[in-house]
Amino acid sequence: MGKVKKIALLSGGGDCPGLNAVIRAVTKAAISKYGYEVIGYVYGYDGLYKNNYIELTEQKVEGIYKEGGTILFSSNKTNLFDMPFEDEDGNIVKRDVSDVGVENLKQAGVDVLVVLGGDGTLTSARDFARKGVNVIGIPKTMDNDLAATDLTYGFISAMSVGTDFIDRLNTTAKSHHRVICCELMGRDAGWIALYAGLAGNASCILIPEIPFSIESIVKHVAKRDEQGLPYTVIAVAEGAKYADGTKVIGKIVEDSPDPIRYSGLAQKVADDLEAAIENHEVRSVNPGHIIRGGDIDAYDRIISIRFAIKAVELISQGLFGNVVTLKGNDMTYSSLEEVIGQAKVGKQKHVDPSGELVMAAKAIGVCFGDD
Ligand code: F6P
Repeated sequence: MGKVKKIALLSGGGDCPGLNAVIRAVTKAAISKYGYEVIGYVYGYDGLYKNNYIELTEQKVEGIYKEGGTILFSSNKTNLFDMPFEDEDGNIVKRDVSDVGVENLKQAGVDVLVVLGGDGTLTSARDFARKGVNVIGIPKTMDNDLAATDLTYGFISAMSVGTDFIDRLNTTAKSHHRVICCELMGRDAGWIALYAGLAGNASCILIPEIPFSIESIVKHVAKRDEQGLPYTVIAVAEGAKYADGTKVIGKIVEDSPDPIRYSGLAQKVADDLEAAIENHEVRSVNPGHIIRGGDIDAYDRIISIRFAIKAVELISQGLFGNVVTLKGNDMTYSSLEEVIGQAKVGKQKHVDPSGELVMAAKAIGVCFGDD
């Protein structure tokens, strides 16, 4: 292809701390270092379908370096390869309207599409790449469960806010000799709960990778009583499960690529503990989306810049069809085909139940509800 003149950004899926910082750094470097024009489609692929975009300038993005959310807004539903339409009989039929997206990119003079998203959004990015569109992916997941990269922006911010919750719950739990369960997002990976729980001194951490029993937690609470520590804060990953496989699903979002939304596990664990423990009151809190919002952590501001600059570098080198990744301390890239292939066979990055971090936590007395 000829020289790149214009690039377009698009963010899809749920918002994630760091998206704005990435949008800012891509825009600034693309304009000032490489002389590209930059536009941003709004509401993810919906904007691409409806040709709804805004011009991104250095001035427009300057102040968003630490703001959570995304100035391009997001949609976790639109899939141009499988769009629902109502036919004349009122039935919902799915159609592939991706050609409209390809045509809109052409009309707008876009040479490269930069897609910020998780599995679902990047799957469409791969499919656009297969249709000949020059695509660069920048992974987005605060859950830290993408196998292709050691870390993504968002996780550290979520962990920091989660840590603050656990810290605060410790002081109030201690005052009232209570047991308090705090639910933390993370879907089917326990990274946020493990890190926030450990950093915030939760003495019990429940994660999806280690099935738990109420009996084990009751024993742990009794042991703490004996040790003169008559309070317990429990970090509960929303996707954790009981030893018999029980999970708590908050709602099903039918038209989402990943329809299950977990919510309510901390409340159930609290109810079960209240029935099993006599000498402590039990409470539960669910900060939910609060760990996704607000200003982002300082480290996420840096890593967002690094992901962004690598993406623009890949554009300048014509290395399309790739996703920016972090391996060790090196910014690098993997092919969209490989990243999506891994995700499709369920190869997510999970906490190793017998790994170093879990062992370290156990060594300082943290209960995972499994003994
Ligand atoms: O994947 C990010 C995440 O925040 C998960 O941790 C959580 O389970 C999910 O998204 C919540 O999705 P929604 O914003 O659709 O409720």
